[in-house]
Formats: sequence, C-alpha cells, structure tokens
Amino acid sequence: MKKILTLALCAVMMLSVLAGCGGKTDAPANDTPAQNEPAAPAENTPAAPEAGGTIGVCIYQFTDAFMTTYRNTLQEILEGKGYTVTVVDGANDQAKQNEQINTFITQGVDALIINPVMVSAADQIIATVKDANIPTVLINREPTAEQMSAYDKLVYVGALAAQSGTMQGELILDTPNKGDINGDGKVSYIMVQGDPENIDAQLRTEYSVKALTDAGVEVEQLNLTRGDWMRERGQEIVANDLVQFGNQVEVVFCNNDDMAIGALQSIQAAGRKVNEDIYLVGVDALDAALNEVSNGNMTGTVLNDAVGQATAAVEEMEKLLGGATYSSGSQSVYVDYVKVTPDNVADFMG
Ligand code: BGC
Repeated sequence: MKKILTLALCAVMMLSVLAGCGGKTDAPANDTPAQNEPAAPAENTPAAPEAGGTIGVCIYQFTDAFMTTYRNTLQEILEGKGYTVTVVDGANDQAKQNEQINTFITQGVDALIINPVMVSAADQIIATVKDANIPTVLINREPTAEQMSAYDKLVYVGALAAQSGTMQGELILDTPNKGDINGDGKVSYIMVQGDPENIDAQLRTEYSVKALTDAGVEVEQLNLTRGDWMRERGQEIVANDLVQFGNQVEVVFCNNDDMAIGALQSIQAAGRKVNEDIYLVGVDALDAALNEVSNGNMTGTVLNDAVGQATAAVEEMEKLLGGATYSSGSQSVYVDYVKVTPDNVADFMG
C-alpha cells in the first residue's frame, strides 16, 4: 500500500505538470483516443481553502471490488484532511442515487463526489448539482465533454481506458509465443466484458485486441460476453466458454480483475494451467490479482490507480471549493495506468 501510495503521488505530481498540454510520458500509440480533452488548469484558482467542510460521496455500487478500494481510500484522504464525509451506496440503481444526491443537497453539503450509476444519467445529475450550485467531482464513469460543459464547477477524474486495453494486449505480446500457444498462426481469445454502457468496458475490449492486430498478430474472437464487472459472472462465463471451445481458448481477456479472479477459478476447475496452456489478463491490480500474478496464475494485470485517482479527486474538489471554475472542453483529469507483470508485481504488493 505504501509503495502504491508513493507511486500514486508521483503520478499525481506528473499529472499536474501535464494537465493542459495533453501529453503523457508513456501513453501508448498516438492513435489512442482522448476520451475527452485533459483538463486545463482550473481558471481563477485561488489558494485552497481551509479544510473542514462537509462532503457527500455517491458510489454506484458498494459490492464492486475496485470501487471498494477507491471509496475507502477517498474517505481516508478526506477524513485525514479534516472533512466530514458521508459515503452512500447507489446499489446500482440510478433512481436511488438521484435521491441520495438530492438528500445531500438538502443537507447543505459543501461539495459532492459522484461515481454515476449510469453515464446516460449524467445530464440529469449535472443539471441537479448546477441548480443547487454545488461544486462536484465526477469519478470513474466519464460523461462526454459536451455534457460536462453545462456546468463550470464540475470536473471529472479518471483514467484513459484505451491505455489500459493497450497494456493488456502488450502483456500478451510479451509472452514467449505472443499468445499463440498452439502455434496455428492466430491468437484465439474470449473476451469477458464489463458493463458495456461504460467507456472503460468499450475501450478495453477494443484496445486489448487492437494492440495485437497493430503488432501484426492475427486474432480470432471465440466469444464476447457481458460480465458486468462481477467475479461470479467471470467464473460462469469462462466455465461455459471452456466447455464450448475447450483447448481452442488461448487467451482470456477480462475487462477487470474481479472477473479475472472468477475466470481463474473456472480455468483451474477445467484443469488448465495459466501461462502454460492459457493466458489470463485483467485490469485494476486488486490485491487478489497481484497475488495471482505473483504466483504465476495470472499472466498480468494493469494498475487502475485508485489511490492516484482518489488523491486527484480531492485535489480537484479543493480547487472547486476555493472558487475555481473549468472551461468547457477541458474538464477531465486523467491518472496513468501501469502495466503489472511478474517482474514488477512486488512493487505493488503491500
Ligand atoms: C474498474 C472496474 C469497475 C468499474 C466500475 C472500472 O474502471 O476497472 O473494476 O468495476 O470501473 O465502474
């Protein structure tokens, strides 16, 4: 955890330097799309105010493994700075989250940090916080630049999903046979997707495979199934796919680690051995996945930097509380992903 915190702080320091110029030192290929333009430095940025206000945090679903690490870190950072924090569970229900936002507004919170249940509800969320004039940081599920431009006391903090997808593809390219275990000239894979409404699921799915095809590797998609980010779904999907496609499956791409951990259970139940007769990659660098990478039961993962993102979210919130505003088209702040392999996994373990 300490090492992750140090890494995260470096990332955030780098990020404040890079914000506004759109550059990233080790971002993948030039054709990686910007989800939105990176944030320009907040306009009219006065000194951060004395901490000690009341903050409402809305999380889309407490049972989500990654968002659990994220929300705990967020709460720790905010409380450490003297804020009074209430964190609520949207239970994957947008109507419920709308009520929670309204309750926070009625209670007179100083700022909101919101992880939307549905990006399609962003217009409504943004209109509500704008009406109430509450400084708001959106996290993890990114609306479009146009949606955010409706309110200048609003900023998004997240990561570039395409970057994580590309890194997953690179993890496969780095294997001795570049993913082609059976030597038939193509990489046959299954894709376990998150919630497809979410840009993270869309771009990881696309860019993991694109990294292979860009490197001239032929691919064959055996199946793509929606797993909604959940471990049990990863397990179910991969169990079914291994029955249906058997030894044809060479690579299992999971849009996140929780689904990859579920996938691993089915891979082992089917008598397959990761890194020998099948490859498995995820995203997030959950503790469970770091253990499996270190034991050789996952080929690799990609750090989705919860500490870096939580730190940046609080930093942006404090700028807003200090009176900063953001101009339209530059309301997104991104924290870099980091590739995790057996070679560097120890750096990420607590
Ligand atoms: C994470 C997933 C998580 C999702 C929630 C993604 O960035 O990688 O693990 O379930 O966010 O929106």
